[in-house]
Amino acid sequence: MSQIISDIISHKKIISVYGLGNVGAPIAAAWLRAGAKVIGVDISSELLDQIRAGTSHTKEPFISQIFTKALKNGTLTITSDGKKASHDSHIKIVAVPVALKNNKIDLSALLAVAKKISYGLKRNDAVIICPSIPPGTTRKIIGPILEKSKLCVDKDFYLIYNPERIYEGRALQDIESNYPAIVSGFGQNSLKFAESLLKIISKKGVLSMSTLESAEAEKLFEGIYRDVNIALANELAVGANSQPYCHLHYPGTGVGGLCIPVYPQFIINASRKMNMHVKLTEFSRKINDRMPIKCVSDSLELLNKYHIKPKNAKIAVLGLAFRGEVVDTRLSPSYTVIDEFLKHGCKVMVHDPYIEYDANLPPSVKLSNNLQSVVQGASLIFISTDHKVYVKLNKASFSKTSKPLLIFDGRNILTKNNFKNTSIMTVGMR
Ligand SMILES: NC(=O)c1ccc[n+]([C@@H]2O[C@H](COP(=O)([O-])OP(=O)(O)OC[C@H]3O[C@@H](n4cnc5c(N)ncnc54)[C@H](O)[C@@H]3O)[C@@H](O)[C@H]2O)c1
Repeated sequence: MSQIISDIISHKKIISVYGLGNVGAPIAAAWLRAGAKVIGVDISSELLDQIRAGTSHTKEPFISQIFTKALKNGTLTITSDGKKASHDSHIKIVAVPVALKNNKIDLSALLAVAKKISYGLKRNDAVIICPSIPPGTTRKIIGPILEKSKLCVDKDFYLIYNPERIYEGRALQDIESNYPAIVSGFGQNSLKFAESLLKIISKKGVLSMSTLESAEAEKLFEGIYRDVNIALANELAVGANSQPYCHLHYPGTGVGGLCIPVYPQFIINASRKMNMHVKLTEFSRKINDRMPIKCVSDSLELLNKYHIKPKNAKIAVLGLAFRGEVVDTRLSPSYTVIDEFLKHGCKVMVHDPYIEYDANLPPSVKLSNNLQSVVQGASLIFISTDHKVYVKLNKASFSKTSKPLLIFDGRNILTKNNFKNTSIMTVGMR
């Protein structure tokens, strides 16, 4: 058994995880399952309370149960005190959000955590950065903050970049079994430590990158690949996939979440600074950002065909989450859909099976998880999120809408045979 594994399972080395959200929680859970002692750090007292009550991460299998068991047997402690957690731990894993604010990168959470860690950093400690970040961030920004501890990076402590590559809803499985862990280090010492550390929880082993910057870029390129391919599908229609050389994604109402719409912007911003232009990436962003507006415009055309004026229309938007089966609404295209309908004078009601309250909705828009109350009297049903419950909908589900039943299927998710003699307009098909 390697020294590092025995240090971790004997609890000689303690792991702290900063940020217990969609990414940090499954990382903490994976280490707990591997036998580690973990300190979970989060500034959200609400989240810490939910973890204590066993009600956190409801859409992510196993996490809550693993946390409850570990809190009971003492292998997990949770705190909002990042400074103390750094003192008390040896391997510090950072999974706080790096978001975009008005197309500018917001590193504030990452910088705050790096500062807290620097106060408690000790010789032979390791700091592992997981969020998706612009290339150069770990070396040029995080390294100097950590060196304020007077310790020297790669000599006294290890600095590692390990991008997390999870899909919400199966995050723990992704970390433990589905993909190799991408690892990179500030120097050779950090890289070697990263390789022996991450292979403990990653069944598929590790994939070592030559530099921190190439690992940071790799993660962003995965997002760009998705964004550009979705844009292509949004520009073209389906049908082409009926031969083996074409793997078009499906068109939809737009791209949301904290990842795909955000990562391309990191590269767009960085390339602009260098006076270069990633034109395909920029154009794809524009296509995907325009999709909710285009879908609303198509829906209004459908209403117009039946002589229903927008100001007399009540729209039932089905799905607020940015994609099916998640409770995450960040950068959801549904917000743009709702705003566009409101701009045209429509009345809007929103249904989501998993979200009961959302502070970001305009006051006039009511959100409910009772489908019947949302669709009652609706002039048009707009499917915005591909939640599984919508696949089973049929004509009877909409018996309370005004007649004729008009539907815009923005995710091409409805079973069309369930809607004979209904006017359904599907995204990408006219
Ligand atoms: N969500 C995904 O599917 C996904 C996938 C791969 C990578 N990522 C990357 O991981 C990052 C985190 O994403 P997420 O979905 O876990 O975000 P999240 O919002 O679900 O979780 C982040 C957590 O960090 C906490 N936090 C914020 N500031 C903090 C601080 N200063 N100290 C301690 N805790 C703090 C928040 O309270 C929150 O609970 C993203 O920015 C992205 O770069 C996300």
